Amino acid sequence: MRLACLILLLVSVCWALPFYQSGFLDFMMEDEPGSAMFPDLTPPEGPVLPRMPLEPVCPFRCQCHLRVVQCSDLRLENVPENIPNDATLLDLQNNKIREIRENDFKGLRGLHALILVNNKITTIHTKAFAPLVNLERLYLSKNLLKDVPPNMPKSLQELRIHENKITKIKKATFTGLPNILVMELGSNPLAGSAVDGGAFADLKRVSYIRIADTNITSIPKGLPSSLSELHLDGNKITKVTAESLKGLKNLAKLGLSHNEISVVENGSLANMPHLRELHLDNNALTIVPTGLPEHKYIQVIYLHANKIGTVGTEDFCPPSYNTKKAMYSGISLFSNPVPYWEVQPITFRCVFDRSAIQLGNYRKK
Ligand SMILES: *[C@@H]1O[C@H](CO)[C@@H](O)[C@H](O)[C@H]1NC(C)=O
Ligand SMILES: *[C@@H]1O[C@H](CO)[C@@H](O)[C@H](O)[C@H]1NC(C)=O
Repeated sequence: MRLACLILLLVSVCWALPFYQSGFLDFMMEDEPGSAMFPDLTPPEGPVLPRMPLEPVCPFRCQCHLRVVQCSDLRLENVPENIPNDATLLDLQNNKIREIRENDFKGLRGLHALILVNNKITTIHTKAFAPLVNLERLYLSKNLLKDVPPNMPKSLQELRIHENKITKIKKATFTGLPNILVMELGSNPLAGSAVDGGAFADLKRVSYIRIADTNITSIPKGLPSSLSELHLDGNKITKVTAESLKGLKNLAKLGLSHNEISVVENGSLANMPHLRELHLDNNALTIVPTGLPEHKYIQVIYLHANKIGTVGTEDFCPPSYNTKKAMYSGISLFSNPVPYWEVQPITFRCVFDRSAIQLGNYRKK
């Protein structure tokens, strides 16, 4: 029952988040039940001496089970004491913690996941994370941080820090984090070019970056070639430059919906040869981006709610069938000024099925 609650709780952590890693519970489940929390209390051979019953440690009002320390929703103002040293997951979400102090995580060498979502954290001591030499997941979303904390553990694979007050991502912000795979930075007051060029360059293994719903005006420069998903929806980006996408040979999904993009430079698509999905809906495009017919793998392209006035028969598909390796499975063009009856059916000759095209119903206002 307790375990069920716990799983429910963890699911609710993931629920609000756009990226769900199915292996989340793996490291909890691999423990043998009870091995740590219920030590063998059989008295030793020989005369029985009176002794205090050995209580497993657990912070006051928290629940400790299978090396998971559950302290959420307790109105805590500080990280509690007596966290068992063998804890692998520490859940402190939905409390009132304002500050992370130097010794708050002392001795927690085995901690894999630290959940601090939805507190009031403004300050993190520069040495607070030093004991966490095995930390893989750090969830700091929904706090009041003005900066990404310094000295995060080198072992870190996933950093979620959306919905804070971060105004700047510096070139050195993520240095020394070679194992990062997932980075979630959305809904921070990042404006203009608040993300320095090369800020992500050291993240040699990163596969997922999301910076959505901020006010950045350009695609961050120097993105690592390991990237497979980049989500930049809901920003103020005005232009897709070929330069900013250079070397993204593993990128499969690019999200740029709800920006102010009027231009996609020639060569942009060629810089992402393995792209499968491109979201450019709700922008200010006047033509279909160039390079689609030559692209071998793109399958989904959203272009609805733009200002596209014409669609030509060579805009999506190559002249002959066999040069494109994957057919389209989704093209959206509705809510554009192009009169849909003027779009020739042959335009979509390399589309998997007619139902994959959403063309329809532009109404003049
Ligand atoms: C973006 O700018 C607008 C207008 O200046 C502001 O209201 C909004 O809060 C900003 N967005 C973020 C995430 O800071
Ligand atoms: C981009 O490509 C289009 C068509 O392929 C061409 O008409 C246009 O002149 C090119 N623009 C630039 C700036 O190279």
